[in-house]
Amino acid sequence: METTLVLLKPSCVQRQLIGEIVNRFERRGLQVAGMKMMQLDDNILREHYAHLVDRPFFPALAQSMKASPVVAMALRGVEAVAVVRGMTGYTNGRKADPGTIRGDYAMSNQQNIVHASDSPENAKIELERFFRPEEIFEYNHALLSFLYATDER
Ligand code: TYD
Repeated sequence: METTLVLLKPSCVQRQLIGEIVNRFERRGLQVAGMKMMQLDDNILREHYAHLVDRPFFPALAQSMKASPVVAMALRGVEAVAVVRGMTGYTNGRKADPGTIRGDYAMSNQQNIVHASDSPENAKIELERFFRPEEIFEYNHALLSFLYATDER
């Protein structure tokens, strides 16, 4: 099992799509292991987007991520990182495939609804960045035997 980080960005929160996006992850079979609303600040954003701080769009990106609270989610499942990235779609919503979250809800490269960790290594780092250990729960997933074959779990 893997656990991955998703942020429902201000573009999701403001457009009142929180329930719709959470529903997609739940219907896919991912278990919600943690979820909370939080207001991001420059410190956490400079850390989270360290690979982008020198890009010209960074100030606008930081502004867009501070425009309202975000919802941070820890989602668990077999190969959850790749599954969630696949559901997220290409960064630019205008280029994202229909059927992906960005391809269904976004028209923008920046106001693109969700963030999702891009590797298991980054998922671990990002979960630690946004959650305290006691905010991520291990609990019985009652439907497990109907979501996976025994040799997949
Ligand atoms: P990135 O890590 O490249 O993409 P992803 O979110 O798909 O993992 O970029 C992080 C965020 O930075 C992206 O979701 C939106 C923003 N961004 C821009 O605003 N303009 C850009 O040209 C790019 C590449 C990203």
